[in-house]
Amino acid sequence: MSRYVICGGNKLCGSAEVHGAKNSALPLMAAAVLTGGENVLFNCPDLSDTDASMRILRYLGCEARRESDAVIINSSHMFRGDIPDDLMREMRSSIVFLGAILSRTGRAVMTFPGGCELGPRPIDLHIKALKALGAEIVERHGIIECTAGKGLKGAKIALSFPSVGATENIILAAVKAEGTTTITNAAREPEIVDLCDFLNSAGACIYGAGEGVIVIDGVKTLSGVQHTIIPDRIVAATLMSAAAATGSDIEIDGIIQAHLSSIIPVFEESGCFVKCDCGTMHIKAPERLRAMPIIRTMPYPGFPTDAQAPVMAAATVAEGASVFVENIFENRFKHVTELIRLGADIKVENKVAVVNGVKSLYAANVQAQDLRGAAGLIVAALAAEGKTEISGIEYLERGYENFELLLSSLGADVLKV
Ligand code: EPZ
Repeated sequence: MSRYVICGGNKLCGSAEVHGAKNSALPLMAAAVLTGGENVLFNCPDLSDTDASMRILRYLGCEARRESDAVIINSSHMFRGDIPDDLMREMRSSIVFLGAILSRTGRAVMTFPGGCELGPRPIDLHIKALKALGAEIVERHGIIECTAGKGLKGAKIALSFPSVGATENIILAAVKAEGTTTITNAAREPEIVDLCDFLNSAGACIYGAGEGVIVIDGVKTLSGVQHTIIPDRIVAATLMSAAAATGSDIEIDGIIQAHLSSIIPVFEESGCFVKCDCGTMHIKAPERLRAMPIIRTMPYPGFPTDAQAPVMAAATVAEGASVFVENIFENRFKHVTELIRLGADIKVENKVAVVNGVKSLYAANVQAQDLRGAAGLIVAALAAEGKTEISGIEYLERGYENFELLLSSLGADVLKV
């Protein structure tokens, strides 16, 4: 179990570059299964989740290797369509391979991804949509077996919730299906757009990515492509939170301002100066933040649930009360008890957390219990006087590449042990 030891209270300074988006890299690595030949994903973050995806690709019979910030995948010799339990348990979002494997081989078998720290994480929307595309799906003894012996056929699919993963699985299953597929109430996240850009470069015909209605005209073949992954908007939001919590003035490089359109106003309204220019953000925080406007997590382009924990950590030292409403996941306040150990004043009632800002936090030993909760604890520790130890850093390393080095480059006193 790796830990961070953070001596808080320092201001940050200088600039740091945001790495590629984990939640774009994972579906893109699944999409590589669909194109014959070699695919190169540039700006692919080096994370435990991307490592897990590469292990799945190799298990399926693909070549997958990393060369610095690029991952090269060749699925020409893929010969399997099943993902074993140990690989599924390593990363539940491997469910995004389901549609791609089904499209490529006509048969996909994997264990039920099960829940995670955030709650049960059902996949009913994925299953219903794949059945609409002609898949036969049998779920028994924790195994999902999908077959599409007669091939997949385009269909009209209306999602009851704009699920990111379900939208991705439908796109990956439909892109080489016979006929046209229409997804209404599709997820609009930038990672969906990035996936469709990759697939269209490979020869797909996908229209409306980023909108609520996506139309996919099935094509016969897709060719390998080179693609640069978009920057990680949640890592950017985490660095903004770190600057805000420590009254710092920093630059964040390699961002896409449009992807942060629901996040930037939150920091501006709490007193930060934020200016973006050609992919670089300059954020200057006040000595002490004002309370944040009520934050409701919503599907994109609303405020992202993944940014809730780090932004809440910054709110713990603001002047006044900030309210967070977590509308996406049932159990995404696990960082609250640990923030309270650092001196925060937070009350949780169902999906609402009320954060009464305190003048300062103080060091303590805390335990991360999920990926973005770990990021939140780091933000708080940077603001807390004294030496804080955070265990459970393996959660953080699923989504943040060498984060201790990134923070140290901004002048933070962070040691990974
Ligand atoms: C993706 O998860 C992200 N993961 C999550 O990021 C992110 O929090 C989430 O989208 C929302 O933006 C990846 O992209 C790998 P959903 P996903 O399907 O696809 C319910 C992180 O920290 N639902 O949009 O699983 C579900 O229970 C991770 O990087 C169903 O009910 O999210 C949840 O309440 C955490 N049935 C809501 O929809 C389904 O079949 C949103 O889930 C599918 C989802």
